[in-house]
Amino acid sequence: MNEFLGLYPAWLEPGIGAGWVIGFIATIHVLFSHASVGAALVFAWLARRAVTANQPQHLDFIRKYGAFLLIFSYVLGSVTGPGIWFAATIANPRGISALIHNFVWLWATEWVFFLIEVAGVYLLVYLAGRVPIKTYLRYCTIFALSSVGTLLIIVGILSFMLWPGQDSWYQTGGVLSAFFGESMFAQLSARFFFMLTITGVVGGFAAAKTADPAEKSYIARTLSGLGAMGAVLGTASLYWFASTLTSDATIVSATRMPESFAAMMWAALAVTLVYFALTAWRPSVMNLPLTVAATLVILVLGLAPSETAREIVRKPWVAGRFVYANQIIGRDVPALEVKSELPVLSKNGFLATHPFIPENLRKPESKWERLEAGRLISIAACSSCHSLTDTGIRPIAKYFPAEADAAGIKDWLSAGLYRGHIVYMPPLPLPELDRDVMSEFLAEIIAVQKTDPQRAANYAVKGFPKDSVGGK
Ligand code: HEC
Repeated sequence: MNEFLGLYPAWLEPGIGAGWVIGFIATIHVLFSHASVGAALVFAWLARRAVTANQPQHLDFIRKYGAFLLIFSYVLGSVTGPGIWFAATIANPRGISALIHNFVWLWATEWVFFLIEVAGVYLLVYLAGRVPIKTYLRYCTIFALSSVGTLLIIVGILSFMLWPGQDSWYQTGGVLSAFFGESMFAQLSARFFFMLTITGVVGGFAAAKTADPAEKSYIARTLSGLGAMGAVLGTASLYWFASTLTSDATIVSATRMPESFAAMMWAALAVTLVYFALTAWRPSVMNLPLTVAATLVILVLGLAPSETAREIVRKPWVAGRFVYANQIIGRDVPALEVKSELPVLSKNGFLATHPFIPENLRKPESKWERLEAGRLISIAACSSCHSLTDTGIRPIAKYFPAEADAAGIKDWLSAGLYRGHIVYMPPLPLPELDRDVMSEFLAEIIAVQKTDPQRAANYAVKGFPKDSVGGK
């Protein structure tokens, strides 16, 4: 019997690409979730001060900000959080499977912490001033600890997507060596400090509505001090994180990172520091429009490029440096009894071994069959990183020279990509038939796109109409 690759059907998002769908949800989720964890620390601080310095009016702020977070972080965060995993599961089922197989208990722990957080935020909002203040302080402390717990666990899991904490994991499979590593600590540090910055800014939504000027000053100065410290130490942590990249990830990040990213990060840092200086100096300026503006700056100039950068340095892998972005297993993991699929791919190709190629296309003959076969291989091998239409992520036709014909494309497919010499793309050692039909398909799409991009997009996404190419 033929050996099959463990591939699933691909999620083809023709307009913007599956990657952007996940990226969009993930970026706003980072804002919601970090705002909540940071707020939990501020709440614990304020509740403590309410007890020790006899400042019960702080509970008022906690109640107000907590009610805001209920919608901002808990409703929107709970929709976008599972939204990421849902979208990521259809975009890359094997990447998520790798995470679940390693971290199922940590994930369960994450849910327990999360449950405590959700129950906790209700308690903080509805019991402020209604239970003894020391009891309230205990709620705040538990809320803060479980919130930081959710951050810690998810950072370990996200770090594993970049690479396992310890190299020995491939041999041992130990969950702690998958989880803990220098890169994980560097990422934890960056996320923790930037979380304080996000908190400093988003806290403005509640601070803006605080009527008592003395209380507003104290809150605004606390938030701006915290936020400024976070911005500086977070930026320093990014350098630490960059120093933990493996050598090929360093090459990918040096050659493939848009130059605008660094400028955006520095601009985000400068704007937030000016903002915090302003709100510390004149707390009364902390109003709603300014808070909205500062939040947007952080989202667009800070979070969007940094989350995208994390995606870029991960290329060509999607999880643990053994699952490629196109879902092919690229190396042996003895601990999981996982074997590289590259040998099977190079021996038999996609057409013979992809479980979701229709039987009639496994040995394509007519022109139509060849184009369709090439289309399905391109979807399986390339569409996770290149959109097949002229919009979305790295539109594939734009990466080949405009005059590229099937022979030229086949030469390209038979060179660096075939041998795995392109550091940011998975190797693709395909047999001759697969490379032939793929290059015929790509040449056709490139040619049609020149005169009629819409028709080319329809062909790439929906398939070629049989009569258009005289097939049987
Ligand atoms: C892991 C993601 C990934 C996959 C899968 C992938 N590519 Fe790429 N490809 C890239 C990146 C990243 C670049 C660099 C360009 C950039 O940074 O935008 C690139 C560049 C290219 C280029 C430009 C020439 C070059 O060497 O830089 C071509 C042509 C190309 N890809 C074709 C393909 C084809 C055909 C497939 C499917 C067989 C494919 N790619 C699969 C990520 C990928």
